[in-house]
Amino acid sequence: MEYKLRKAEPRDVSDILRLVKELAKYEEMEHHVLLTEKELLEDGFGDTPFYHCIIAEIQGENSSDGLKVVGFAMYYFTYDPWIGKQLYLEDFYVMEPYRGMGIGSELLRHLSDLAMKMRCNGMMFVVAENNEPSVQFYKRRGAEDLSQEEGWRLFRFNKNSLVKMATPAEE
Ligand code: ACO
Repeated sequence: MEYKLRKAEPRDVSDILRLVKELAKYEEMEHHVLLTEKELLEDGFGDTPFYHCIIAEIQGENSSDGLKVVGFAMYYFTYDPWIGKQLYLEDFYVMEPYRGMGIGSELLRHLSDLAMKMRCNGMMFVVAENNEPSVQFYKRRGAEDLSQEEGWRLFRFNKNSLVKMATPAEE
């Protein structure tokens, strides 16, 4: 089956949200997805995009069918004060019937080309501990498990903690 990769456009936000939810469901965390299409549109396609996406699409089964979005990679750029520019892979997903056809590897190739072009020194990402197929997928391609090898732990201040630390709003 032929597929094509391209940069996401504003018209893709409903497919992006669909795939974000599918990945969250795969990770048994679907209830954590609070984002709406409106926010995805504002945050990804405004003056200062907070994320970028590469979309994988295939031609539908019948010639009358349009193109169908079957996978995506969401990424942005971060900075490591030790080694500089990094590409951060936030979400990476191919729909189940289309896995094992090379789409994921091609998405990674596309991101690696981009990382080279932007003079990045690495690609960072987080994988759920119980997502063993993906851990192996990344390891087969040379990824290092930093939690295991360097002992880093992942932290977050949630909104409540931020509100507590922030300057109180004036009455
Ligand atoms: N399903 C999955 N993998 C298969 C299948 C299948 N039905 N059949 C074969 N494979 C093997 C392939 O042979 C290949 O092996 P290789 O690593 O030795 O090359 C590998 O699994 C899949 O390679 P691709 O076809 O290039 O990748 P794919 O299009 O299947 O996409 C991905 C990989 C994105 C990890 C996909 O399996 C997926 O969506 N998994 C579920 C969601 C997930 O775990 N996403 C990553 C979360 S981590 C993050 O987002 C940063």
